[in-house]
Amino acid sequence: MVANWKMNKTRDDALAFIYAINESLPSSDKVETVICAPSILLRDLVKRQGDNLRIGAQNMYFEDFGAFTGEVSPVMLQTTGVEYVIVGHSERRSLFGETDDMVNRKVKAALNHNLKPILCVGETLEQRELGITSSVIRKQLELALDGVEIKDVTNVIIAYEPIWAIGTGKTASAKDAEEECKNIRIAIKELYNAYTADETKVLYGGSMKPSNAKELLAMPNIDGGLVGGASLDPNSFLELVKDCL
Ligand code: 13P
Repeated sequence: MVANWKMNKTRDDALAFIYAINESLPSSDKVETVICAPSILLRDLVKRQGDNLRIGAQNMYFEDFGAFTGEVSPVMLQTTGVEYVIVGHSERRSLFGETDDMVNRKVKAALNHNLKPILCVGETLEQRELGITSSVIRKQLELALDGVEIKDVTNVIIAYEPIWAIGTGKTASAKDAEEECKNIRIAIKELYNAYTADETKVLYGGSMKPSNAKELLAMPNIDGGLVGGASLDPNSFLELVKDCL
């Protein structure tokens, strides 16, 4: 279960959140709990994570160093001790102009630095209404994974996030979310092999909350969630983590 805090929480709020949940988190061999926080908070959070919590970043650039004002590199992320980084979130794509090519470079750069990319894919409402959801996602996946070797691909976590469901309160039905997550697994099987497809984690994101999580998480191809709004409150996030058990 992955929290994406987006651009929320001051340092004090973030630390209070960690202290509120740390003791109550289920063991990491039952459910992997991850908080993806703003870059400036990562070091403080990593220091205070208990055994059952891992910290992730929300973005990074694909170069190691250089004249890229304002960017954070995979080398820098690695030195904070984070294990995960979200790549290609729809907000990065639509608000900050991230292209499929940049997403692909970021996925490879993350893997090269032993970071696990949480790769986001998803369709717009218009694409869903046109009936092209599966082909849009297939294309995003193919472009994002271009050149990623089979030995690395199970370190990529794929998050299906329909754009029309993000922050809108509208959730994909469990049936629709399952269908796309299943298609993602089929794509991995075709691009790599069946074993890799089984081992790859596929998450659903888009207005997931305690009232709808159980139904989504019960689906055979949905391994977990990537949660924005409902991850900001410690009790609601804990409930979501426990819904994975
Ligand atoms: P919400 O849970 O707020 O819809 O956000 C989903 C998301 O974008 C997670 O990355």
